[in-house]
Amino acid sequence: MNKNMTRTEYQQLVLQLNEHAYHYYVLDEPVIADQEYDALYQELLRLESAHPEWVVSNSPTQRVADQPLDKFHPVKHALPMLSLGNVFSEDELFDFNQRITKFLEKSAVDVSEVVFCAEPKLDGLAVSIRYEQGKLVQAATRGDGSTGEDITANVKTIQSVPLTLRGDDYPQILEVRGEVVMPRDGFQRYNQWALKHDEKVFANPRNGAAGSLRQLDPRKTAQRPLAFYAYSIGLVQPEHNQQNHSDILTWLKKLGLPVNHLTEVVNGVTGCQQYYQKIAALRDGLNFDIDGVVYKVNDLQLQTVLGFVTKAPRWATAHKFPAEEATTVVENIEVQVGRTGSITPVARLKPVSVGGVTVTNATLHNEDEIRRKDVRVGDTVFVRRAGDVIPEVVKVVQAKRPAQSQPFEMPTNCPVCQSELHRIEGEAVLRCPAGLTCDAQLKESIKHFASRKGMDIEGLGDKLVEQLVDAGLVKTPADLFHLTETQVAGLERMAQKSAQNLLAGIEQSKQTTLPRFIYSLGIREVGEATAITLSNHLYTLETIMSAKHEALILLPDVGDVVASRIQQYFENEGNVVVINELIAAGIGWPEIAQKSVEELPLAGKTVVLTGTLTTLKRTEAKQKLLDLGARVTGSVSANTDLLVAGENAGSKLAKAEQLNVQIVDEDWLLAQ
Ligand code: IVH
Repeated sequence: MNKNMTRTEYQQLVLQLNEHAYHYYVLDEPVIADQEYDALYQELLRLESAHPEWVVSNSPTQRVADQPLDKFHPVKHALPMLSLGNVFSEDELFDFNQRITKFLEKSAVDVSEVVFCAEPKLDGLAVSIRYEQGKLVQAATRGDGSTGEDITANVKTIQSVPLTLRGDDYPQILEVRGEVVMPRDGFQRYNQWALKHDEKVFANPRNGAAGSLRQLDPRKTAQRPLAFYAYSIGLVQPEHNQQNHSDILTWLKKLGLPVNHLTEVVNGVTGCQQYYQKIAALRDGLNFDIDGVVYKVNDLQLQTVLGFVTKAPRWATAHKFPAEEATTVVENIEVQVGRTGSITPVARLKPVSVGGVTVTNATLHNEDEIRRKDVRVGDTVFVRRAGDVIPEVVKVVQAKRPAQSQPFEMPTNCPVCQSELHRIEGEAVLRCPAGLTCDAQLKESIKHFASRKGMDIEGLGDKLVEQLVDAGLVKTPADLFHLTETQVAGLERMAQKSAQNLLAGIEQSKQTTLPRFIYSLGIREVGEATAITLSNHLYTLETIMSAKHEALILLPDVGDVVASRIQQYFENEGNVVVINELIAAGIGWPEIAQKSVEELPLAGKTVVLTGTLTTLKRTEAKQKLLDLGARVTGSVSANTDLLVAGENAGSKLAKAEQLNVQIVDEDWLLAQ
């Protein structure tokens, strides 16, 4: 790039970077690759350090103030920030619509069917952002609705919030209202980081968003993965001339503000119901938490006629999803031993329905968590179930604690093999060090070995694994291959026929693939995706077994920790003995053709993943694509070669169809 840029060229570079941010965050349609953006950004940094006098306030480098605040100052909202009424069922939704129609009839307005703007109800924190002459001047929390707190410095660090509005057709004053959320992927990443660095872990993305905005040091907030979606406006001067709420959203989008892409205009109660069903089905696959949907009468004139009831508009309501939290009683606390010896305390609960599913157990994670939450037998607790993750205990209802209750003490010895438990420096979990000589770990290892993603041994379910281990017939995975029909048939509830079936299943599993075999060994931190990476880059078991740390960390997505785990695993003589026995028993796989990168099937192709996948996790699907040589990006554009669409694929699928991009499904990916 030109080293002697002029001041005008510097200003153009700022505009160019802001334009790219708009394409990325608002249109969800980047026009350049992340690396190109980074290169431009580096150039900007270089120019600004050479010419500090050039720096403009809307430069992306100016998002983070370098001074912490001593406190948050109160901000009075020019127009109050309202709350919403709720409906929890179709009946209540029907009543809501009825109230509106009746009220309009009474006001002599004739509508046969009300048109609504339907939006996801984002589970974050409401904020109001004020622009004057197109510049972001203030951002505030909702507070009590009339007075909030000044969080301008923190909101400016959110990349998707524009520092200046786009174009030149903006009102002199514009207050934008919307929700700050912590996207789910960022939440997971942040918590992993926080655990490692002894920082506070957030209970859920909502707390993540709230906690991050309440940071007095904006440099900290800048490191939190936050996003913003605009959903309405406050004060606008001079008055705007939009007709519908959906027009306001389109207008905000034009001005550079991100609006949630799931927003839709729907007709009447039927339209609302369909929207609710659709969003409920998409919910688990979204990258942000939602707790329902919101319906707003779309016609702004009708909104004015309808007006307000106390603090909420009559023209809008939230349709909430069934609660995913409930209270129940802890009947007992037990500890479980995992495949790698990790000791997890589990609360046995009085059965309770959470979001439509009966929950009887909830994880208490580890010793630190149990101590932090001080969960005791007999306590009444809040339990949460989110998506397909294991239910967890959120907190204790202190007021209901029985008088005689005692704090829970973690055991000092493994409940299964009695070995003394260890806690490794820097790790939160207690571990049983006995490895495969601990029956609990042996059982979990064998289950993992036989699992569908591993050796896929048909007929070997969890119950049978437990019986085989309890009977002393299996002490390592290799023992499975020496079982006899008589031994198996002798187990409880097993007959000749089922014994034969199991042996046939074991025999069949011998023909496998190298990644499956590697995965089935149960090396800590080595999941399906890493097993594929190892196989695709190192080709043979021998090379993988002898690979050194320096070589391993060069592989994609293999970091220091994973590399160490792999090396440690193969340095353990016991493990090598079992592997040799497995190979001697006849386990084998087709050789992996050693292809150069350019020969990979998706070499040079740009691929986008969307929708809910049923077999692969998202990260695994992404890894698989990478291993096939593809470049994986987040949004569909004219440069996309292929879209892998799971279930309930939304706007990206529509876009791909429009652009004639080739579309394939998960089965296709699995078959590659
Ligand atoms: S509209 C006059 N739209 O829900 C209407 N609110 O219970 C004011 N929320 O404090 C709110 N998603 O934090 C609106 N699409 C959406 C929303 C939304 C989430 C939150 C918001 C508000 C609360 C009201």
